[in-house]
Parts: sequence; structure tokens; C-alpha cells
Amino acid sequence: MLAKILLLFLLTGFSHTQECLSRDYGHGGTVCVCNATHCDTVPQPEKVEPSELLVYTSNKAGLRFHLEKKKFESSNLLDNQIIINPKEKYQTILGWGGAFTDATGINIASLEEELQSKLLESYFSENGIEYSLCRVPIGGTDFSVRAYSYDDGEEDKNLTNFKLAEEDHQYKIPYIKKALNLTGNNLKLFASAWTAPTWMKTNGEYTGFGFLKEEMFQTWANYFVKFLDEYEEQGVEFWGITTGNEPSLALVPLNQINSVGWDATEMGKWIVNNLGPTIRNSTHQNIKIMILDDQRLFLPWFVDLALKDNSTRSYIDGVAIHWYLNNIVPITVVNETHSHFPEKFILATEACNGIQLGVGPVVLGSWERGEYYSFDIIEDLLNWVSGWVDWNMVLDLTGGPTYINNNVDSPIIVNASAGEFYKQPMYYHLGHFSKFLPRHSVRIAVSNTIEENVLVVAFQRPDNATAVIILNRNEDVVPVSVTDPKRGTAQLEISEKSITTLLYW
Ligand SMILES: *[C@@H]1O[C@H](CO)[C@@H](O)[C@H](O)[C@H]1NC(C)=O
Ligand SMILES: *[C@@H]1O[C@H](CO)[C@@H](O)[C@H](O)[C@H]1NC(C)=O
Ligand SMILES: *[C@@H]1O[C@H](CO)[C@@H](O)[C@H](O)[C@H]1NC(C)=O
Ligand SMILES: *[C@@H]1O[C@H](CO)[C@@H](O)[C@H](O)[C@H]1NC(C)=O
Ligand SMILES: *[C@@H]1O[C@H](CO)[C@@H](O)[C@H](O)[C@H]1NC(C)=O
Ligand SMILES: *[C@@H]1O[C@H](CO)[C@@H](O)[C@H](O)[C@H]1NC(C)=O
Ligand SMILES: *[C@@H]1O[C@H](CO)[C@@H](O)[C@H](O)[C@H]1NC(C)=O
Ligand SMILES: *[C@@H]1O[C@H](CO)[C@@H](O)[C@H](O)[C@H]1NC(C)=O
Repeated sequence: MLAKILLLFLLTGFSHTQECLSRDYGHGGTVCVCNATHCDTVPQPEKVEPSELLVYTSNKAGLRFHLEKKKFESSNLLDNQIIINPKEKYQTILGWGGAFTDATGINIASLEEELQSKLLESYFSENGIEYSLCRVPIGGTDFSVRAYSYDDGEEDKNLTNFKLAEEDHQYKIPYIKKALNLTGNNLKLFASAWTAPTWMKTNGEYTGFGFLKEEMFQTWANYFVKFLDEYEEQGVEFWGITTGNEPSLALVPLNQINSVGWDATEMGKWIVNNLGPTIRNSTHQNIKIMILDDQRLFLPWFVDLALKDNSTRSYIDGVAIHWYLNNIVPITVVNETHSHFPEKFILATEACNGIQLGVGPVVLGSWERGEYYSFDIIEDLLNWVSGWVDWNMVLDLTGGPTYINNNVDSPIIVNASAGEFYKQPMYYHLGHFSKFLPRHSVRIAVSNTIEENVLVVAFQRPDNATAVIILNRNEDVVPVSVTDPKRGTAQLEISEKSITTLLYW
């Protein structure tokens, strides 16, 4: 027993933090370089006295989870005030993570084993950013090296030829299992399908203006259950599914991304007659079913229309949203959706940088792209969203592979020939939430008197700690007083271009 405790101590208490090996590629910020023998870590916070608070800072200048201890010892309030109000409570956190795309697995596989471990630890371990909720595509996506489904070929209404792909066995399941292990099985997964087999679709193609044939409604629901069964057989269980990735893609001219188009009313019919009863009568009956899985542009009307009938509504647990086109749709539509469906959670299920025109898909070190993440996360959190799931967890230097050349950016970029990977500012921005806000944390009210470029959100964690996250987009330091009615006031200097997490018990 003593030996065990000592070993645990050696592994946790005494394991020294590895610092960021900073590299500047000249793009307005830095990456941290990881190789087979060195990768920066961030140990789990240790509880402090009630009079103290921990301050974690990452900034454009190069700090990464830099830890300082401060005290609630001040009596003067500054012009800039953050005031915590723990009595007023909002939504509960479901989790944080990214997607186990084929591209993610292919890029992990391109590294030697030691480096693979460092990469997975960076996302999933207690010394990393502790992802807790990840997305798994059902079959291929645009971040695959080919177009496929699990039942290609002739029409097969009974799904007799349904079979997982080589990609599942080589690039998804092994890494999902390692991630589950690193989190002590505290990782929840949800699955989303891009395309159906071509024979189920009106246009007979993976892409383009294609919808599900009505005579295939039940077969498509059965396909979801088959997928869940097959993964369960491989030892991987799911917490949730979505009704399908981005049904609106079918309406985008020249779109090359595999998809199933849905009209809201038709989707409602499919849910109430096929998907809902099939899932709830299966061994996966408790799985969460999320609708939309598409841009907030379609809120609230798509969900209003699809779920206008209460029996349809009762099959759905949550609403899944993506961030593309956010600049043309105000966040108020998310709040509005919450007020129409207060019993349903809202989860952000996809986001990435790199689709902006005129800039490379991958921009190594871009602090700005990290800010886009944390800005969107805070805006979502302030409007009832319960978690945020990134797109590809790992891409290569070109932002791929993607068989349709839809290259984009990712929080971790591998350079396999150098035996290195690079942790982008996006990784740290997301980590300032994922690391410190475990599942079941509850958002609490916070008021702040600071100018527009500073965003603040606060939570009470299951261990009763309070976590406050502050994004400073200003080029200047912001002096601020933080007041908690139970603790008093602390004075802090929030560095320019930074993301900060405060933690106190
Ligand atoms: C990893 O990087 C460190 C710091 O640059 C260097 O000392 C070490 O040799 C590198 N290890 C490998 C395996 O390249
Ligand atoms: C599908 O299965 C049903 C019931 O098991 C059977 O009656 C039917 O012939 C099968 N259809 C095909 C195309 O195999
Ligand atoms: C993780 O894997 C190790 C080695 O196989 C095993 O000893 C441990 O029990 C696993 N942990 C969990 C939570 O499954
Ligand atoms: C199970 O299926 C039956 C008929 O197939 C349906 O009437 C019932 O509503 C389903 N159960 C659930 C929980 O949806
Ligand atoms: C439908 O459900 C909502 C929310 O649960 C409820 O407020 C409303 O009264 C229900 N409508 C009908 C017609 O049952
Ligand atoms: C969200 O909606 C509520 C009422 O439904 C309103 O009081 C609140 O101001 C809205 N918040 C935002 C950020 O729009
Ligand atoms: C990737 O590694 C190669 C060496 O294999 C090196 O020449 C190249 O500059 C590296 N790329 C970046 C972006 O660091
Ligand atoms: C958190 O606080 C509540 C109420 O004050 C208490 O009942 C609970 O045991 C505390 N939980 C922990 C993990 O300290």
C-alpha cells in the first residue's frame, strides 16, 4: 500500500512540469514544439487556501498556462471590476473535445510511438488539457482519403453487407481506446454521419443535391444502430448521436462534401417514425439524440419546424450547432432556441479556422485564430451552450489529408519528417476551458464593467471551486479587481492579448 502511494506520489506530485519550447514562425504568435523527448505539460491544479487564488495565463507573448498564486486581500475596487454572483445559476457543462476524423488518425499514425503518446497525452491526460467529449464520424468525411460508407455497392435494404471500414480499425478505434484509457474512461463520445450509402439517396451520389429516399427512412435508422452495435463489439460505447452532419450542404452549389440533405419537416417525420423509435427500442435506448448539427444560421426555425409535434420533440435531447457563418447571424438565435426548448441542451459540435479566403489553411502560431476560438466559446457559454467540440484534432502541415482539398487548420499540426508536432494557440485557448471546467460544472453569473474587448465567464465546479475565464483581446494590460462576495477582492493585471483562468476553492 505504502509503495503504491509512494509510486503515485512520484508519478503525480513530483513529476516536474515540462515547459513550452516556443517557436515563432512570424505569424503573430508562437507554437510550442513537441518531440519524442520533450512536450510541455500542465499539471492538475492543487487546491489552495480560501484566501488564495490560482491564476493561469497564456498570452501572445508566449506564456502558456503560466501559474501564479494571488490573494483576496484588497479593499479597493478599480475601474475595471469583475463581480462573481454564485447564487445565479445557468447551464451545466457536458464536455470539451475534438473529432476522431480519419485525418486525425492518419496524422497520429505518421508519428513514432513516443510522439504519438505525447500527442494523445496533450489532449487527454491529467498533464494535458483533459478533453472529455469527442465526436466520431460514422464512416468517411471530407477529412478522409476517399469517399465511402459502410455499405457500398448494390442496394442492400437489409444492410446485410454493412461492415466497418479499414479506417475504423486502423485510424479511429485504436486511438479512441487510448484516449479512453488516458481519461480513466471519463471520455464521452458522440457519432455523426456525413453521407448515407449512395443507393439510399435521391441523387445516387455521396455529394450534391441529394436527400434520403423515403423508402430508405427505416434503413437509415437501422444503419445508425448497426454502427453503434459494431463499435460496441469493438469495446467503444457512445453517449450520443446527431441526426447527421450539416444537412444544409446539399443546398450549397458545387459543394464537394459528402452529405445527406434534409428538409426540416421531412427530418421531423424521420425522427418520429424511424430514428426515434428505432433507437429507443434498441440496446442503445439511453443515447442522447441531437438535432441540427449545422450552422446557427438555421436557428431557431429549423428546430421549431422539425420538432413542432410534441412526440417528435420528446425523442430529441439536444441541439448541435457549428460555428461557420457566425459573423452573419447574431448569437441571440441560440438564446432564442434555448427559450423555445428549455429542456434541451445546446452543444457546439464543430468549428475550425482556415476556411477564410486569402490566408493559408494552416497558420503556425496565429494568436488571432486562438482568440477566435475563445471568443466563440465564451459567447456560446453566455448563451446556454453546454460544451464545445473542435473539428480535426490533428492535421499535417498542409491542413490535410482531405480527398477534396478542403484543407483547414487544427490546434495540433504534425511535421512527421521532423519528428515534431506543434501546439497552436488554439490548443491553449480551448485548454483554458477544457482543463478547468470538468463535466457538471455549472455556469454562474458574473458582471463586469470592463470595456468591450474583455470577455468574462464564470463557473462553479463539482469540487466547489470557482473558475473564471477572462479573454483580453486588447493590446494593453488591463488592471482589474475581482470580487467574490464570500472571499473579498483580489487585484490582478490581465496581460495584453491573453487568456486567463482563475481558480479558487
Ligand atoms: C527535443 O527537443 C529538445 C529541445 O530542443 C532537444 O534537446 C532534444 O534533443 C529533442 N529530442 C529529439 C528526440 O529530437
Ligand atoms: C429483408 O429481410 C426481410 C425479413 O427478414 C426479408 O423478408 C426480405 O426478403 C429481405 N430483403 C432482402 C432484399 O433481402
Ligand atoms: C489503461 O491501460 C493500462 C495498461 O494497459 C491499464 O493498466 C489500465 O488499467 C488502463 N486504465 C483504464 C482506466 O482503463
Ligand atoms: C418501440 O417500437 C414500437 C413499434 O415499433 C413503438 O410503438 C414504440 O413507441 C417504440 N418505443 C419507443 C420507446 O419509442
Ligand atoms: C408540448 O410540450 C411543451 C413543452 O414540454 C408544452 O409546453 C406544451 O404544452 C406541449 N403541447 C402540447 C400540445 O401538448
Ligand atoms: C436571452 O434571452 C432572455 C430572455 O429569453 C433575455 O432576457 C436575455 O437578455 C437574452 N440574452 C442575450 C445575451 O441575448
Ligand atoms: C518540417 O520538418 C522539416 C524537416 O524534416 C523541415 O525542413 C521543415 O522546415 C519543417 N517545417 C516546419 C513548418 O517547421
Ligand atoms: C460542495 O458544497 C456543497 C454545499 O455547500 C456540499 O454539500 C458539498 O459536499 C461540497 N462538495 C465538495 C466536493 O466539496
